[in-house]
Amino acid sequence: MRFQPLEKLINLHDNYRRHFRIDHLALMLVQHEGELYLIEPRCPHREHSLENAHIEQGVLECPMHHYRFALADGQLLYAAEEPCRHLRTWQVIYEGNEVGLLLPG
Ligand code: FES
Repeated sequence: MRFQPLEKLINLHDNYRRHFRIDHLALMLVQHEGELYLIEPRCPHREHSLENAHIEQGVLECPMHHYRFALADGQLLYAAEEPCRHLRTWQVIYEGNEVGLLLPG
């Protein structure tokens, strides 16, 4: 596994959201109430962007059909219509003065 840096710690703050593309992987780094989360940037329901999703108490709500997901593990918590898969998440890794994720290879 290799460490892929995404952001310097000094640039992080609450309500931080930023998209990254690493090879074929699309990621969104989010800071919410002091915690960092790394999630896929599009809703697993119908691919709506989660850039402006409402986040409260560790729960992300997609603005399109209001499906809700746990930020910590991506679990689907509420589905207005047919259920969808969980939100994909990655573990945030701290290394030196940067945060990122571990990638194979
Ligand atoms: S696209 Fe996100 S809830 Fe439907």
